[in-house]
Parts: sequence; structure tokens; C-alpha cells
Amino acid sequence: MLTKRIEKELNDQINAEFYSAYLYLSMAAFFESINLKGFANWVYIQFQEEQSHAMLTYNYINERGSSVTLSSIEAPPSKWDGPVHIFEEILKHEQEVTCMINKLISTSMEEKDHASVNFLQWFVSEQVEEESGVSDILQQLKMIDGKGAGLLMLDRELKQRVFVQPAASAT
Ligand code: FEO
Repeated sequence: MLTKRIEKELNDQINAEFYSAYLYLSMAAFFESINLKGFANWVYIQFQEEQSHAMLTYNYINERGSSVTLSSIEAPPSKWDGPVHIFEEILKHEQEVTCMINKLISTSMEEKDHASVNFLQWFVSEQVEEESGVSDILQQLKMIDGKGAGLLMLDRELKQRVFVQPAASAT
């Protein structure tokens, strides 16, 4: 069984992951509306990944014999100034998620819950990868000033991305 404090923070994490999913889906719709299908594909895959992060946590709470409690998901924004703005917002958002994971690990350590510390390690690596991937795209976008032929080339590149079920949730 999880302590009540960890159970609460993990349930908050499920909500945060579903909010992330919702945010990325809203971004996918925005990119569709401005005809950047490759960008839409990239953020749509983020939407799928975030749902799998939520489900990993859902399954973990159940495995530990504790209770999942779902709460309402905040509405995400639906308008941005363009691709550069979106990727700046994504980076900021992922940095906040990283802070939440770090806080969860600190709580697990304080509660001497080694299983939870171990469970959360996967998310630590995932956040490093996510922040790095987003930073790379943001840098490229800034180099091309977020427009022109460079933008179309980047859009074509991002169209190649395919969803891969995260290893930790592939069971
Ligand atoms: Fe679930 Fe984008 O971290």
C-alpha cells in the first residue's frame, strides 16, 4: 500500500499527464488548422505518449493496492502565435512536469518508499529525453525564424515520427 501522501501525489500526476495529453491534442488541432501536418503529427504522438504515462501511473497505483481517484481536467489553450510560440510553451510545460516528478521522488524518499522511487526513475529518463527533443526542435525553429521553406522542410521531417509504446507500459 502507498502512503496517503504518495497516493495523492500520484493521483495528481495522473491528472497532470492527462492534462498534458489534452494540451498536445489541442496543439495538434491548431497545427491542422494552419496546415502544418508534420507538426500536427509530432504533437499528436505526444498526446498518445502522455496517455500512456497516465496509464503507467494508474496501473502502478492499482498494483500497490491503493486507490485511483480521477479529477477534472483543465481546458487547455486553443490559440498560439505560431510554431515558435507553441514549442516555447511545450518546453516550459515539460520543465514543470519534470519538477512534479522530482517532487514525487522527494516525497517517496521521505516516506522511505523505495518501490515508488524505483517506479519514478523511468519518468526521470523520459523527461530528459522529452526536454531535449523539444529543445532541438525549438532551436531549429528559431534558426529558420519559424517560417518559409525551412518551416516546410521541418514539417516534412516531423511527419516521419511514429508512435512507439513506451517500454515500461508495453505489457
Ligand atoms: Fe508525461 Fe511530457 O511528460
